[in-house]
Amino acid sequence: MENIQKTISPDINLNHEHILILDFGSQVTQLIARRLRESGVYCEVWPFNAATQDKIKDYNPKGIVLSGGPRSVLDSDSPRVPDSVFEMGVPILGICYGQQVMVHQLGGIVEGEDNKTGGSREFGRAEVTIAEESPLLSGTWTKGSTESVWMSHGDHVATLPEGFKVVGTSSGAPFAMIANEEKNFYGVQFHPEVVHTVNGAELYRNFTHNICGCSGDWTMASFREEAIEKIRKQVGTSKVVCGLSGGVDSSVTAVLLHEAIGDQLTCIYVDTGMMRMGESEEVVNLFRNHYNIPLIHEDCEDLFLGKLDGVSDPETKRKIIGSAFIDVFDDCASRIGGADFLAQGTLYPDVIESVSFTGGPSVTIKSHHNVGGLPERMNMKLVEPMRELFKDEVRELGRELGMPEDFIRRHPFPGPGLAIRMPGDITREKLDILRNADKVYIDAIKDAGLYDEIWQAFVVLLPVKSVGVMGDGRTYEYVCALRAVTSTDGMTADYYPFEHEFLGKVATKLINEVKGINRVTYDITSKPPGTIEWE
Ligand code: XMP
Repeated sequence: MENIQKTISPDINLNHEHILILDFGSQVTQLIARRLRESGVYCEVWPFNAATQDKIKDYNPKGIVLSGGPRSVLDSDSPRVPDSVFEMGVPILGICYGQQVMVHQLGGIVEGEDNKTGGSREFGRAEVTIAEESPLLSGTWTKGSTESVWMSHGDHVATLPEGFKVVGTSSGAPFAMIANEEKNFYGVQFHPEVVHTVNGAELYRNFTHNICGCSGDWTMASFREEAIEKIRKQVGTSKVVCGLSGGVDSSVTAVLLHEAIGDQLTCIYVDTGMMRMGESEEVVNLFRNHYNIPLIHEDCEDLFLGKLDGVSDPETKRKIIGSAFIDVFDDCASRIGGADFLAQGTLYPDVIESVSFTGGPSVTIKSHHNVGGLPERMNMKLVEPMRELFKDEVRELGRELGMPEDFIRRHPFPGPGLAIRMPGDITREKLDILRNADKVYIDAIKDAGLYDEIWQAFVVLLPVKSVGVMGDGRTYEYVCALRAVTSTDGMTADYYPFEHEFLGKVATKLINEVKGINRVTYDITSKPPGTIEWE
């Protein structure tokens, strides 16, 4: 709840028009936030159970979106909206469960699957027919048209509260879109935030701009200015250290901080020896040579590989790397006389507290490597200037800061590096093979113009050798797996559907050009049940 407190009273973003999203536990609530931000409007996601009526009043949003959720309003203990929200005179948009809970609380009737009167379950694609014009639809869907939307519901609205009219219908939801235009209350049974709802983003834009009257004052230019002011105020004349990983988040954090506080910032880049090809040179070039930011480049290949010698258990690898990293970082920071602040590229998805209906702690799938633990050990405070941003906004901010496009568009790379893309033990020979293979694969993806369509792509070197034939000779070399996924936040992912021809060509190129690999496979596992990385 502590995180929520921080986001509930941010000191910069009350300057902007803002929308509040009350989260009822939908898997796609974050997508609502992204759609609103894309429309140029700042918004925050609050779990329904942290949003008291006083906090909502204090926050004074221009509009409220009620998210979907897994519960049924027919269960008496299911989540509710504070009643006063409907009296605030603020526009409200209810999505799926959000629509149902609004209808239920305003005196309409919601029915379950077993008690149908013309309604039924709908999961996946559905068609909505537009029955009426509405400010929610202006410029997009017109009366009489049929639109493709994405549904996921069992319950449905059966009777509307007073003052509401039907705007759209579907076969399973006679009240698929409803409106009370006098009060500016709107509800949709489908999910306009997912890409399968064609023009869904326009509906959100209509809500923020036409209905809530927002002008769209959330731009990266204004964020940059305000964030710089805020950093200066927080840090004063103190020293700050920032760990660079080669990834986008830490890079943008560092450049933003440098713009705010100049040489009070020192960056630390720990080269674990398990980076991608050319990574260290690129980081050093960009930060030391291009930006002139004080940078400690610590070459620790021997240290890390020594500690990992003979280790093949994934969690042990992660723990060894995490703790060695903290030791090195601590040592580097001491060398510059210590620092009062540690800058981190924490993003909004890490800050949003998700709604849990089970109440139990979630199982740790992988212990993530970051510099957690450092602030306590070194008695440092945190500077996290991007706590309010989504990944795509970070990229936009990077552009705003004039960072090179190649850096900004890079796929994410995990802290433990290539160690977790190499099941089994880690050797220099295997690291070299993997680095070469990864370069060939990524270059092929870039040449095919697919790099930006893919969220993350990489090669995994398997601890398996296979027999092959090259020329007239027998080979006995490693097998690799190619991974490429689409995702919005890394929490869920789908494998990327390459054309067979592309895969065939890459396999040939890898086997011809990378000594040590003679067989290539493609990983078609989604997440869940798989994870993106192999360890
Ligand atoms: P998984 O494998 O858990 O990965 O599906 C989800 C996303 O997180 C990245 N990842 C990490 N990032 N430290 C990081 O900074 C880590 O320890 C770590 N482990 C996984 C992974 O690359 C993917 O983008």
